[in-house]
Amino acid sequence: MGKISSTVACVALLGTVGAQAQDAGQVNIICSVQAEWCNMMQTVFAKSTGIKVNMSLKGSGEALAQLIAEKANPKTDLWFGGTGDPHLQAAEQGLSLEYKSPALPQLHGWAQQQAAQSKYRTVGIYSGPLGFGYNPELLAKKRLAVPKTWADLLKPEFKGEIQVANPASSGTAYTMVATLVQLMGEDKAFDYMKALHKNISQYTRSGTGPIKAVARGETTVSISFVHDGPGEKMQGFPVETVTPAEGTGAEIGSMSIIKGSRNLEAAKKFYEWALTAQAQQFGAASKQFQLPSNKATPIDPRVPDFKKIKFIDYDYAKYGASVERRRLIAKWEKDVNSLPR
Ligand code: F6P
Repeated sequence: MGKISSTVACVALLGTVGAQAQDAGQVNIICSVQAEWCNMMQTVFAKSTGIKVNMSLKGSGEALAQLIAEKANPKTDLWFGGTGDPHLQAAEQGLSLEYKSPALPQLHGWAQQQAAQSKYRTVGIYSGPLGFGYNPELLAKKRLAVPKTWADLLKPEFKGEIQVANPASSGTAYTMVATLVQLMGEDKAFDYMKALHKNISQYTRSGTGPIKAVARGETTVSISFVHDGPGEKMQGFPVETVTPAEGTGAEIGSMSIIKGSRNLEAAKKFYEWALTAQAQQFGAASKQFQLPSNKATPIDPRVPDFKKIKFIDYDYAKYGASVERRRLIAKWEKDVNSLPR
């Protein structure tokens, strides 16, 4: 509540500056976090700089597909948010611009590492662990125990009770595929996903779709980023989260400037602003609880406690490489998604 009112105060305060800075240009942004955060960034940045922000919302995989499609004639200036793997792929494919922000030393090591391994074509803006969402009321009604391990999700009683997104469109779901491959080894991970397929009711387009369905009682369990749970709960929905005991992966949500941007100065201005501790508070202010990358950003108590979670040593460079990402998604389509349920 305090954060939301400070956002409003911030918008009001910056409004006077914005009024004097009309016609300061525009910037075209693809935004891959949830709408409320995108809208807040759009409004505050436009008010404070006078720069018009044209924002379009897309899942991580879809955003990458659009950037590939417009490579010869880019219409996008900046890509804000979404899982890090497709940002790394964009970097490798020459879709994003090398840019070394002077703010890098203010960021956590994992965010700086994301920048370094992309040769400064992307940067980490937040991080968040993969886990499960569940609806405690539905579980109780169906007399099902809370799933606490990856193995639990294969139990026959979860048939038709689980949702996860499609890894081709969703970075969340690709993080699941890459996490399982690293945790179990590729053959076992694909056997696992084939078995899991029998319990999946739907593969959604967007990564946040499944936890929203859990919250609204449309499905019992989801495979989701656990930072997407508290925002649903704050709206009064019955939803809890858990991370699997065997170990799990985390995303490094990222931001990239697009090569060939026609509004480069405006894009750089947005980029620098988005790395400040002040702008990074708009995540929690819009009920999204990833861990911010600027070390000085206050951490909301609803942000998952990383120290309590068992993580795998996720190889971001390997699983963000184009060949690997394309191969794993194609294999998932062929070996898993095509199977009858
Ligand atoms: O905005 C919520 C979120 O979970 C982000 O943390 C993440 O980067 C993004 O969604 C991934 O969305 P998708 O799975 O649709 O690509």
